[in-house]
Amino acid sequence: MGALRFLTAGESHGPGLVTIVEGMPAGVPIAAADIDRDLVRRQRGYGRGGRQKIERDAIRVLSGIRQGRTIGSPIAFVIENRDAPNWERVMSVTAIEDAPAPVTRLRPGHADLAGALKHGYDDVRDVIERASARETAARTAAGGVAKALLRELDIAVRSEVTQIGNVRTDPAWDDDRVEASEVRCGDEAASARMVEAIEAARRDGDTLGGVVAVRATGVPPGLGSYAQWDRRLDGRLAQAVVSIPSVKAMAIGDGAQVAAERGSAAHDPIEVRDGGFSRTRNRAGGLEGGVTNGEHVVLWVSFKPISTLMKPLPSADLATGEPSPAHIERSDVCVVPAGGVVCEAVVALVLADAILEKFGNDSVDDLRAALERYRSRLRPLRART
Ligand SMILES: Cc1cc2nc3c(=O)[nH]c(=O)nc-3n(C[C@H](O)[C@H](O)[C@H](O)COP(=O)(O)O)c2cc1C
Repeated sequence: MGALRFLTAGESHGPGLVTIVEGMPAGVPIAAADIDRDLVRRQRGYGRGGRQKIERDAIRVLSGIRQGRTIGSPIAFVIENRDAPNWERVMSVTAIEDAPAPVTRLRPGHADLAGALKHGYDDVRDVIERASARETAARTAAGGVAKALLRELDIAVRSEVTQIGNVRTDPAWDDDRVEASEVRCGDEAASARMVEAIEAARRDGDTLGGVVAVRATGVPPGLGSYAQWDRRLDGRLAQAVVSIPSVKAMAIGDGAQVAAERGSAAHDPIEVRDGGFSRTRNRAGGLEGGVTNGEHVVLWVSFKPISTLMKPLPSADLATGEPSPAHIERSDVCVVPAGGVVCEAVVALVLADAILEKFGNDSVDDLRAALERYRSRLRPLRART
């Protein structure tokens, strides 16, 4: 809860995106290349639009990292927008004569109408620029910092696409297969059907959503707290994940299914195995009472179909109130594969925050020692058996 904080700034077609991550302990090995790898993963995925052909996202580190390690000061990055030169007049900081015409045709499913009403804008461009999911590149970079810390503690966060449109499969949890798939799905046959479904939607001027499974492994028990609503890790994960643009639902473990089941089927029996507490199954997704229980943390994240349609829905003009088809901004057909990478980033940030809050955030060596001491407190049962 605030041990690790981050902020992002930047418009979609401005000069660049800025990320500041604060609260990282000193001494964490971190390479810009690792963060850039996730930025590239976020840009990929079958169904992306023309913007991704222009951008080559990479961070320029401004502060907080020296000689390949964090130094405990705020970490700042810039990601340049390569598309920016094409938008100089539209995005000019100073007022220019013969400014480009305002965008007034509202796009259903975007922040356009709500944002224009809220701020009193005449030009929906003022909403589009910041509400755009281009911001998720900055969030992904922040998540890369969190992942660097988690890596030191043998905690990994992975994601896998399990559904696009009505094509569904189970996660394979096999990194090589997932990253080899154009849709980041570990089931080859399902991947091919997902690509077909995206193509069919594109041909019809339409879009698709889907589901991503996210799994964090190596997570110690005891992160988060049941003692106060805003300290519960389930709620903190939900805030982070549901705030990703186009995410409309998140289930923790089998949370969506158990609503229809009996309690005897829904909960995870406790057993003692190899001298430690363990579970015969993990339907709770590694969280009980808002606290991690030592099992894998498993989330299922639902993305709505992309809102910008090449065959636009009926809408209205903000300036005249007249009926008018929605504005068409260059757009993706399906972003579920990229969305998974963003999910990994925000889940890593929440887990890293909870770890730093429990074990301290001055030095990674102190943190590792505190975690080891804690883990040995969890082991007396093993010693007794
Ligand atoms: C990685 C990513 C890329 C996205 N790209 C687009 C896009 O190209 N076109 C679009 O209409 N929406 C896109 N979205 C979704 C919109 O940003 C989002 O639906 C919109 O801002 C409204 O927010 P809401 O869906 O959370 O209510 C993208 C989302 C993500 C996560």
